[in-house]
Amino acid sequence: MTDYKKHISSLVIQALLECGAAAEEQAVFNAVVPAADDGFGDYAMPCFFLAKAMRTSPAVIAQRLAEKITPDGVMERAQAVNGYLNFFINRKKFIYETLAEVETLGEKYGDSDIGKGKTIVIDYSSVNICKSFHIGHLSTTAIGSSLYKIYKALGYDVVGVNHLGDYGTQFGKMIVAFKLWGDRQRVEKEGVAELQRLYVKFHQEEAENPSLTEEARKWFVKIEQGDAEATRLFEFFKQITLAEVKRIYERLDVHFDSWNGESFYNDKMQEPLRMLQEKGLVTESQGAKVVDLSDYGMPPCLLVKSDGSSLYATRDIAAAIWRKQNYDFYKCLYVVAYQQNLHFRQVFKVLELAGLPWAKDLVHVAYGMVSLEEGSMSTRKGNVVLLKDVLDKAVEKAQDIITAKNPLLENKAQVAEQVGVGAVLFSALENSKIKDITFTFDRVLNFDGETAPYLQYTHARCRSIAEKAGMSQYVKIAHDPEALNNPETLRLCKLIASFPQAVKDAGEKYEPSIISGLLIDVAQAFNKFYMERRVISDNLSEQNARLRAVNAARTVLKKGLSLLGIQAPDKM
Ligand code: ARG
Repeated sequence: MTDYKKHISSLVIQALLECGAAAEEQAVFNAVVPAADDGFGDYAMPCFFLAKAMRTSPAVIAQRLAEKITPDGVMERAQAVNGYLNFFINRKKFIYETLAEVETLGEKYGDSDIGKGKTIVIDYSSVNICKSFHIGHLSTTAIGSSLYKIYKALGYDVVGVNHLGDYGTQFGKMIVAFKLWGDRQRVEKEGVAELQRLYVKFHQEEAENPSLTEEARKWFVKIEQGDAEATRLFEFFKQITLAEVKRIYERLDVHFDSWNGESFYNDKMQEPLRMLQEKGLVTESQGAKVVDLSDYGMPPCLLVKSDGSSLYATRDIAAAIWRKQNYDFYKCLYVVAYQQNLHFRQVFKVLELAGLPWAKDLVHVAYGMVSLEEGSMSTRKGNVVLLKDVLDKAVEKAQDIITAKNPLLENKAQVAEQVGVGAVLFSALENSKIKDITFTFDRVLNFDGETAPYLQYTHARCRSIAEKAGMSQYVKIAHDPEALNNPETLRLCKLIASFPQAVKDAGEKYEPSIISGLLIDVAQAFNKFYMERRVISDNLSEQNARLRAVNAARTVLKKGLSLLGIQAPDKM
C-alpha cells in the first residue's frame, strides 16, 4: 500500500529545495497531516513552521510551494489556501489499494510485528479470594484483556497475570468463621456469597467477643507457617472463589498465563528486602521498616510491620523483581483503579531508588470507576453489584430486543449472550480509561447508539448484504472502479485505512478506546455509504465493486471487536 503521507512529504521537500530553502525531513513529514474535511483535500500542511527559516509569511510560502510541486499519479493536486497547502491524492488508487490490502490480509488486517521479541506483562483483573466478583472489577478485566489481545496482534509476547489477593489477616478470620458456623456443602453450593456471609458474621460476633480476633490471628499465622489444616481450608476457599470467577472469565473470553498472587511471594521477599537494606534505603520507624519518600512528596513506603509481617507494597516489590527475572519484560503494566495511584508511585519509586534500571518500564494503567445508575439493579446482599448479575441482566434484555427485532433468528440465546456481554464490556472500553462512568442498561444496549450492539448489528448487516447478493465468499471479482469513486466510499476507506495505526496507538497509549472510537466511526461511515449508494443492483460490476467495500468494513469491524474481546455474530 502506498504511503501517501511519505510520498507527499517527499514532494514538499523537493519543492523546498527548488525554492532554495532547506527543511528538516522529519519536520516536514510530521507537518503533513490528514485533512480535517475531505472537501479540502486528503492531506494538509500548515506552512507556519517554515516561516522563520524562509523569512516570509506562511501564505506566501504555501503559494510558492504549490507552484513548484509537480502532481503525479499518487498526488494529483496541491492547493494553497491561506497559510496551508492542501493535497488531493489519487483517490481511486487509494480506495483500490485499501480494499485490496484488507482482502489480502483478511483477519490479519491491523496485525504487525513491532512487538517481535519483546515481552509485555499485564497484571489485570487480580481478584481477591473470598470476595465476590463485583462491578468494580469490570474495568480492569475488560481493559486488561483488550490490551492483552492488542499486544498479541502487535506481535508481542504477552503474559497475563492474575495477581490474586490471596494473602492477609482476613483469611485467618475466614477460617475461624468457617470452623464455627460454616458448612462445607453449603459453601460448595452457594459459593463466594456464603463465604462473604460468614465473613460478615465474624465481624458482627467479633464486636462482642474480642477473643475471636486473637483466634483469627493465630490461624493467620498458621497459614503463613504452612500448617496442614490451615492450608487445606485456605485452598478450599481459594478453589471455591476461582471456580466462580473462571466461569465469568469464560463468558468474557479472558485469559491468564499466570495466577501467581500475593501469597506466591511469601518466600520471595527476603532477598528484595536485603537488597533495599544494603542500598541504605530502609529506615526504622516505630518498629516498622519503611522507605522514606518525603523527598518525593510521598508518605513512606511501609515494608515490614512492627510484628514482622509484610505488606501489599512489599509483595508488589517482590513481584516486580520476580517478573523481571522470569519474563525479562519490556514493560510490565498494572491495570488497576486510580485509587491505587499512590501505592504504585511508591512501589515504582522504591525500585527506582534501588537503582533498578527497568523501574521505568513499570506502568500503572489507571482507570476510573464504573457504576450503575442508581436503582437500575437490586443488590441482593449488601451493596455490591455482582458482575454476573449485570451480565445476566444485559443478556436478558438483549434477548428481548432480539426477539422483537428478529423473531425467527436461530440460536437466539447464543446471540443474546454475545450481545449482552459485548454491551457490558464495551461500556468499560468506550471512553478514555480515566473517566468515571455510570452506565444504564438501556444506553449500552441501544442498537442505534454508540454501543457494541450497534457495531455487532452493522457487522451482521454487512454479512447479510453479501448474502443477499448471493455471494457466500468474497472474491476478487471484476468490478467497476467508478462505482467506488464517491465521497461516502472515500470516507469509509479513510477510516478503514487508519485502523492499523489505531491498533498501534491503542497499544502505545494503553487505550483500547482508540479502537472502539474508530469502530464507531467505521460503522457510521458504512451505514451512510449503504444509505447513499445502492449495493445490490442489476449492474453486476457496480455491485461487485461496492461489495468489496462492504467486505472491508465487515473485516475491520470483526477484527476491531475481537481486539476489544467482543464477539461478532454473523446474524442478529
Ligand atoms: N487485588 C487488588 C484489588 O482488588 C488488585 C491487585 C492489583 N495488582 C497488583 N500487583 N497490586 O484491589
